[in-house]
Amino acid sequence: MRATAIAHPNIALVKYWGKVDLTRNLPAVGSISITLDTLATTTRVDFDSGADSDQLFLDGDRASAERTSRVRVCLDLFRRFRPDLPAAVVESENSFPTAAGLASSASGFAALVTAVNAALESPLGADRLVEIARRCSGSSPRSLCGGFVELALVGDSTTVRSILDRRDWPLDVVIAVTSKAAKTVGSTDGMELTRTTSPFYHAWVTRSPGDLEAARTAIAAGDFEALAAVAEASCLAMHAAAMAARPGLVYWNGATVEGLHRVRELRGGGTPVFFTIDAGPQLKAVCEPGATDRVAAALAEIPGVVEVIRCGLGDGAMVVEA
Ligand code: PMV
Repeated sequence: MRATAIAHPNIALVKYWGKVDLTRNLPAVGSISITLDTLATTTRVDFDSGADSDQLFLDGDRASAERTSRVRVCLDLFRRFRPDLPAAVVESENSFPTAAGLASSASGFAALVTAVNAALESPLGADRLVEIARRCSGSSPRSLCGGFVELALVGDSTTVRSILDRRDWPLDVVIAVTSKAAKTVGSTDGMELTRTTSPFYHAWVTRSPGDLEAARTAIAAGDFEALAAVAEASCLAMHAAAMAARPGLVYWNGATVEGLHRVRELRGGGTPVFFTIDAGPQLKAVCEPGATDRVAAALAEIPGVVEVIRCGLGDGAMVVEA
């Protein structure tokens, strides 16, 4: 009972921010994302180690009690179907900084559920895996699929599917890393603070279906300008709602702000590029492949940008050889 899986982070173009049910981790809004290549989480699960309790090693070191307990919660969701499941040793490696707004929880839990299911010889279907992954991290089911992905609310559950293959619109993503520190307010705390105190939260939730529809239409048509408009609007609306919380949540630093202005200048000059930002200070610039060199060079020049990472669009989570 051992298996290894690999999953890539995903970046939301229409954001998820807010939960209707904390226990089931049910999102208040649907979301649309792109799955990346280049960055990856590789996770090995071993139920045959004879360990007394579930253990997590992250990038070779014993993980914190908090991270270990999140993995245990995930394993316990599988134990509802397999109560006899022994303690697991989980070894996970990220090819990028953990918890700094590069969606490590998304790729981490997508890789974990895929590896656990493979170790158990795939007893659970896609719907159950989506449910387990979502309970662990709301954005992680999107990393189960490749290319352009929609997470939709269906009743009190969620579904996830690829809405366009990555080969049908091969966009690039340039990530301007502006800090390698772990974020100070995690996404669950940030969402709850926004939901309970921001006067803009209701407006944010109300406009989400329109943004999802606009993004679906833009993706189906391969309309870059339309996708740029809705993705930047969704990102700024999410951050505006968070900034209006009490106390206000500001995930950006100076380089993040410089970066978004630079991206808009480039687009104003005819370069097909737009930005998005998650619950951290990194700026993600999505562009047509012919513009990637120009975008990467422009972002690398910004004071405070410590690293520039280039990605294309990637595949969904998959089982790999151990
Ligand atoms: O899945 P979580 O709990 O890490 O939340 C993700 C929240 C954002 O990255 C800011 C938006 C999104 O849709 O990915």
